[in-house]
Amino acid sequence: MPRIAYVNGRYLPHRDAAVHIEDRGYQFADGVYEVCEIAQGFIMDMTRHLNRLDRSLAELQIAWPMSRKALEVVIGEVVRRNGVRNGLVYLQVTRGVAPRDHAFPKPETRSSIVVTAKKADPAAGAKRAQAGISVITVPESRWERVDIKTVGLLPNVLARQKAKSQGVHDAWFVDPDGVVKEGASANVWLVTRDNVLVTRQAETGILRGITRTTLFDVAKKLGYAIEERDFSVDEAKAAKEVFMTSATTIVMPVVSIDGHTVANGHPGSTTQALREAFFDVAEKTPA
Ligand code: PDD
Repeated sequence: MPRIAYVNGRYLPHRDAAVHIEDRGYQFADGVYEVCEIAQGFIMDMTRHLNRLDRSLAELQIAWPMSRKALEVVIGEVVRRNGVRNGLVYLQVTRGVAPRDHAFPKPETRSSIVVTAKKADPAAGAKRAQAGISVITVPESRWERVDIKTVGLLPNVLARQKAKSQGVHDAWFVDPDGVVKEGASANVWLVTRDNVLVTRQAETGILRGITRTTLFDVAKKLGYAIEERDFSVDEAKAAKEVFMTSATTIVMPVVSIDGHTVANGHPGSTTQALREAFFDVAEKTPA
């Protein structure tokens, strides 16, 4: 089945899909995006993802490229046309195409929209979650508005590459005072000795992850208390369990931080339970 992408009103073969060279996403990273998990033929948490898209667009004063209802139809169509039962759908909205000038273009400039879908092997994710992942820490180097899901991800790219070059999976952004912010593309959690789940408050300094939000519902169902507060790298190293959440990895155990082994070096039972319960609790929209 050939891959298909949706670009500004047209379904195109993926290899021919392109945007204009003066698209402001390309020139200024002037755009926002969302990534939703596709699991067993369902789009997961679409309502929450589109709510966050709405917020990102509003914060940057970018117009919706089409109605929300129409975008829901396009997302489903792209998933179906690509035959994706397990994987991801990616959507990106930019301020559109205009002669290069930093200030906003003319108000009639239409925002650009791209939607793609990609298959992923759930067995590979499950295998990685059985082993757990290793992370390094890097100094926070991003702007203050990381609550907006913009395509301007250069610090995240450099952090992930640094992790890769050191043979580990991911990197955490850390403040000068040692407080953990979040991963290059995921939120960070720990489990205390008393089985309380701790994750950083999302009002500032991190992206409010949709997986993070849904995990609050999962935790409630399983009877875990959650504390939203700062925690340091040292507290994470000494925690009972550590894990990360994102649409691409759902709940991913962390077993090593800067070369320090977390607990016994194996994923813990709480992390495992949260991962297992996630699918049942998340909103599922048939593609
Ligand atoms: N990233 N923090 C950052 C910086 C992220 O980029 C992401 C997601 C998250 C988790 O958000 P969610 O649970 O809504 O996926 C937190 C996506 C998956 C990406 O860039 O590919």
